[in-house]
Amino acid sequence: MLSAETIARSGRRLGHTVLVMPETGSTNDELRGRAEVGAPEGLVLVAETQTRGRGRLGRTWVSPAGKNLAMSVLLRPRLPAEHSFRLTLLAGVAVAETLAQGYGLEPRIKWPNDVLVRGRKLCGILAEMKTTGGALDYLVLGIGVNLNLRPEDLPEELRTIATSVAAELGRPVAREEFARNLLEAIEARYLSLEAGHWPEVLAAWHRWAAIQGQEVTVETGSGLIQGLVRGVDEDGALRVVDRRTQAECRILAGDVQYVRAAKPSL
Ligand code: BTN
Repeated sequence: MLSAETIARSGRRLGHTVLVMPETGSTNDELRGRAEVGAPEGLVLVAETQTRGRGRLGRTWVSPAGKNLAMSVLLRPRLPAEHSFRLTLLAGVAVAETLAQGYGLEPRIKWPNDVLVRGRKLCGILAEMKTTGGALDYLVLGIGVNLNLRPEDLPEELRTIATSVAAELGRPVAREEFARNLLEAIEARYLSLEAGHWPEVLAAWHRWAAIQGQEVTVETGSGLIQGLVRGVDEDGALRVVDRRTQAECRILAGDVQYVRAAKPSL
């Protein structure tokens, strides 16, 4: 069982209080419940296993018990609601920084905030918020990272599309230490966002995403768009120049696939 004391960061903005639950439906739901009754910013909730773990776009997040990190962080930023996407992008940057600086991996962010290594997903982020009168009341940052997951723990169909830190390093990782490192990275970027350094966060996101000029297809829910990526704008929307119409589309939600250049036929 994870140790809350080992993850907690006394006196810091995020993670001053950490609750570890052996099992819950979803750490995001659990933390939202606490946010509704006035829990303070920086409260962190971690679960060994989730029975209703949720992903983006209504998907399920599956993570075997005791292997990975399923963590939600409560933020109460003084930001207009339309800037909430900044926190979603910031979380992806913090995960990429943690993986690179602490574990020597070469991560890449896939818009909006999946984190992949060698093209395989090892982290997903689900940010959920409540707004009042156009301002953010609170935002729950839900982060799932595959840490000690082995390929054989996954259903066959996921083995080629998912990976974990341990699978990439060839050794197990200390889950509490990873959680602490990640909270440290989120806090550093969060404080810098608060201090007005959003352009730096966005620039870091673009560096980790390496998506500008890439050809992609995006399933938007209202159709498939294929084209070249211009980048991500101030609101976190993906700007893609549609190959067919040459018009620029702003995409707010969807699934991105990179289109590989066709191999020359011999
Ligand atoms: C995605 O890739 O679609 C996002 C996955 C987010 C999973 C995390 S695990 C902790 C938190 N609790 C949840 O129910 N979901 C997020």
